[in-house]
Amino acid sequence: MERFITFEGIEGCGKSTQIKLAGGYLSERRIPFIMTEEPGGTPIGRKIREMLLNNVPRDTANMSSETELLLFSAARAQHIKDVIGPALKEGRVVLCDRFSDATIAYQGFGRGLDIDFIRRVNDFSSAGLKPHFTLLFDLPVATGLTRAMERIAGNKGMPAEDRFEREALEFHSRVREGYLTLAGDEPDRFRIVDASKDIESVHRAVCVHLLQFINEKL
Ligand code: TMP
Repeated sequence: MERFITFEGIEGCGKSTQIKLAGGYLSERRIPFIMTEEPGGTPIGRKIREMLLNNVPRDTANMSSETELLLFSAARAQHIKDVIGPALKEGRVVLCDRFSDATIAYQGFGRGLDIDFIRRVNDFSSAGLKPHFTLLFDLPVATGLTRAMERIAGNKGMPAEDRFEREALEFHSRVREGYLTLAGDEPDRFRIVDASKDIESVHRAVCVHLLQFINEKL
C-alpha cells in the first residue's frame, strides 16, 4: 500500500521542523521512509530551487508567474521520476515538504493563475500522483511571517531563500485561504494542525495523525 504524505502550510508554519521530528518518530518505530522536499529533492530540483527562491542577486525578482509555475512543475517531474516514485514502489513511506497543493495555493490563489490549468499541469508533472495524506500547518499569516523573517535573519552566511517571504501580507493571506479551501474540499485527505502552538505540542498532534493514517494503510 502506497503512503505518500505531504506537509504544507504558509511561511513560518514550522512544517520543516515538524517533518524532521516526524522522521525521527518513524525511525524509532522502524517504519521505512524517506524524507524529501519541493522544490528540491534531486540535483536538478535543487538547481531549480535556487532559481526560484534565492533573491540575491536580484535578477529573479521579476520572474513571471507563468515561469514560476513551470519551474516548480519541472522540479516536480524530476522528483517523481527519480525519488518519490521509486521509494513508493519499494514500499517506503514518503514524507514530502510541500507538493502540488503548494502550487495551487501559491501560484493559483496567491498569484492568480487559473486553478483548473494548474491542476492539469500538476497531473502532468506528477504523472497523476496525488498525496494520500496531507498535514496542513495552519496559523495566522502575521505570526508565520514574523517567524519566517526571524529565521532568515538568523541564517547569516546562508543563501537567503526569501523571494516569497518578501511578498505582501495580502499575498500570504490568499495563500492561507487557498490551503484552507483545499483542506475543506478534501477533508478525508487533509488534517489541519494548529501550528501556533509550541513545537512539542504540534509534534504530538502530528504523531497522532501519522500513526492513525499509517495503521489504516497497513
Ligand atoms: P520552503 O522550502 O521554505 O517551504 O520554500 C518553498 C517556497 O516555494 C515557499 O515559499 C512556497 C513556494 N512554493 C510555491 O510557490 N509553489 C510550489 O509549487 C512549491 C512546491 C513551493
